[in-house]
Amino acid sequence: MAEKNPNTDRPFLDIKDLVVEYVSDGETVHAVNGVSLHLERGKTLGLVGETGAGKTTIAKSILRILPDVGAKICGGEVHLDGENLLELPEVEMRKIRGNKISMIFQDPMTALNPVQTVGDQIAEVVRLHLEHGDRTDPVERAKEMLEIVGIPAERFSEYPHQFSGGMKQRVVIAIALACNPDLLLADEPTTALDVTIQAQVLDLIADLRNKYNTAMLLITHDMGVVAQVCDDVAVIYAGNIVEYGTKRQVFKHPTHPYTIGLFGAIPDMNEDEEWLHPIDGLPPDPTNLPQGCAFSPRCPYATDECRKEAIKVYRTADGHDCRCCRIEAIAKKEG
Ligand SMILES: Nc1ncnc2c1ncn2[C@@H]1O[C@H](COP(=O)(O)OP(=O)(O)O)[C@@H](O)[C@H]1O
Ligand SMILES: [Mg+2]
Repeated sequence: MAEKNPNTDRPFLDIKDLVVEYVSDGETVHAVNGVSLHLERGKTLGLVGETGAGKTTIAKSILRILPDVGAKICGGEVHLDGENLLELPEVEMRKIRGNKISMIFQDPMTALNPVQTVGDQIAEVVRLHLEHGDRTDPVERAKEMLEIVGIPAERFSEYPHQFSGGMKQRVVIAIALACNPDLLLADEPTTALDVTIQAQVLDLIADLRNKYNTAMLLITHDMGVVAQVCDDVAVIYAGNIVEYGTKRQVFKHPTHPYTIGLFGAIPDMNEDEEWLHPIDGLPPDPTNLPQGCAFSPRCPYATDECRKEAIKVYRTADGHDCRCCRIEAIAKKEG
């Protein structure tokens, strides 16, 4: 395991003011608009938000696997273990991918090679990342990884199509963890699975994180997933973190109207009734974000103040962060 850099008191993963844009059809997509996140070893940060919010873009920026053409990291820093990954030469970055940082993608079907046995696919990753002089037997290590994720080693020589969706995602997890990464980026790792299997796979991921002290960024659109696995939660909307705190803080005192909406219930300000309904409307066009708060067009609490300029981050009563200038008024209304 890598030594901790004694010259820095930065968090293990420290993302500062990350800005990422895509250019498509001559238009600029403002995908990530100044995101800051931090994460320690052995901890899990949940990054929650709707489709299109910028979650996958953040993960790909950390790994620097955004498309060469049409995507651009315009600003910010991504420090891992004291090193700014965005400044590393590509050869150094190649050593970090799959070694120090692994990523689990959403769809196990596309992550696995259909014409190679699952065992070979795990062994290949182990082989690729062996340090000079390391005598680990990749096949033995692959069998061990299969057992660790709950698949009998005898299934080493089977092909992906012989496995169920849940089992395939276990293989993907085995591949991601085969090199004992310090940081695991899990991008909707259970979204493609049915609910009962989801819970098992999440338990497995949490166990492995504890066992290996892996830092994990868990991307999801599902608050239930956050509840099961995460320590901290960052809620993202239109490429901005709108609420950020410990799981306890965010679940006990959800403060941003968008977070309240994600929990599936937002009171209607116009009718003085207790009717609860999910968030109306659609996320904004990322090529043309609204002025001020990007959530204001959907927000039942929005006033003119919200539509003027970029909203700063406020501290809530219990000490977590919320990017909303109406928190006091909302607290009164909700209180
Ligand atoms: N390769 C790309 N080219 C252009 N726009 C993209 C590309 N990838 C993602 N986007 C856009 O960037 C925004 C953020 O996407 P993404 O990071 O995939 O969000 P999420 O993972 O939260 O669903 C979306 O508006 C999406 O359409
Ligand atoms: Mg995504």
